Amino acid sequence: MPNLPATYLTTTLRDGVVSLGTHPFPHDALGADTVLIKPDHLGICRADAKEILGSRDIPEDRGPLFGHELVGTVAFAGTRTGFHEGELVTLNPNITPTRTTGFAEYVFVHGTGAQLDQAVVRVPEADIRDDIWMPEPFACIVHALRKLLELTDLADLRGRRVAVIGAGCAGLTFALYARHLGASVAVFNRGEPRRAFAREQGLLADDENHPLTEAGAERHQGRFDVVIVAPTVATTELLETAADLAADGAVLLVYGGTRKGDTFPAGQADIDTIRRRELIQRVDHRGRRIAVAGAYGCHREDYEEGFRLRARYPDAFPLEKLTSRRIDLDDFPRLVMDLATERQDFPGKVIVNLRPTTPDRP
Ligand SMILES: NC(=O)c1ccc[n+]([C@@H]2O[C@H](COP(=O)([O-])OP(=O)(O)OC[C@H]3O[C@@H](n4cnc5c(N)ncnc54)[C@H](OP(=O)(O)O)[C@@H]3O)[C@@H](O)[C@H]2O)c1
Repeated sequence: MPNLPATYLTTTLRDGVVSLGTHPFPHDALGADTVLIKPDHLGICRADAKEILGSRDIPEDRGPLFGHELVGTVAFAGTRTGFHEGELVTLNPNITPTRTTGFAEYVFVHGTGAQLDQAVVRVPEADIRDDIWMPEPFACIVHALRKLLELTDLADLRGRRVAVIGAGCAGLTFALYARHLGASVAVFNRGEPRRAFAREQGLLADDENHPLTEAGAERHQGRFDVVIVAPTVATTELLETAADLAADGAVLLVYGGTRKGDTFPAGQADIDTIRRRELIQRVDHRGRRIAVAGAYGCHREDYEEGFRLRARYPDAFPLEKLTSRRIDLDDFPRLVMDLATERQDFPGKVIVNLRPTTPDRP
């Protein structure tokens, strides 16, 4: 049995409030079917904020997302897990609900060997500890574009015009990947700070980076083959803006938040089901036929494809540039509450650092 502590720090989300506290370390939770991860870094996701507010429908088969973007080291691996202490891993939160939050010094993941094989993903890049990026949000984008190509019978996006609504982490990563697949991209964002961040980090060229108000301009209307809707919530207004950008026969990929019962155009397509079950449905919008498609979550092979893409095309996927701020776990509860209640906002990704800092050498 490895050397594990008597107590550990973990966060609790209760009644819309996040707190950090010291708890007894549950040694009896370490069974043959348990992988214990000691996170080095965590990403704060928009879904974490939504779960604080209670504005996200939580699927029972996979449980809450609160604290799911992480990179860490296996601190204990049960005999039936197939993992070993010391392996560098990340988490796929789409597999089992029997896991604890990542916003902690230790994360417990329980499951059958087959579940753990999907839920805990080995990270081939040791550099990720210094050049931090988050594999899970990238895997979701890899998955979503793979799904889009599959649903539309396309091999790639060569020569296609792709519009993205939202220059958040998801929208920017979509832009990188769609560009890599051969598309020309145009990202439309409501506020200026995320557009400025994308510009300063060199993630979008000027002709790819537009204010959302420009989406109504004649030169953009009805011009795009694919429109990806990637804001916090896919509101009717944003879906209408997106559909106005779509050419006749284009595809609208719904990626940003939807809730049970949402439809678009009103009463035509059940976009929550389309997104969560990854379907495609043709609809009419202002005299044009467009297909509404959805993508949700990711699989282990999407992580593996993400690692391959990043290793092979580092210039196309400068994902470390998405990080805008790093904080310690102590600062996390206040900052995430501020994010959830919109007292503060940050472009890009806020990273929580749990890795002990190496003392300066004399
Ligand atoms: N389908 C999936 O598998 C999957 C996986 C992960 C995430 N998601 C979804 O993707 C969403 C975005 O994630 P993210 O990481 O990109 O979040 P993020 O970095 O926080 O970015 C949020 C984006 O939404 C925009 N936005 C928020 N409210 C808006 C409004 N009322 N009107 C116009 N734009 C608005 C923001 O624009 P401003 O700069 O103007 O604020 C920003 O561009 C998440 O909320 C989640 O629902 C889906």
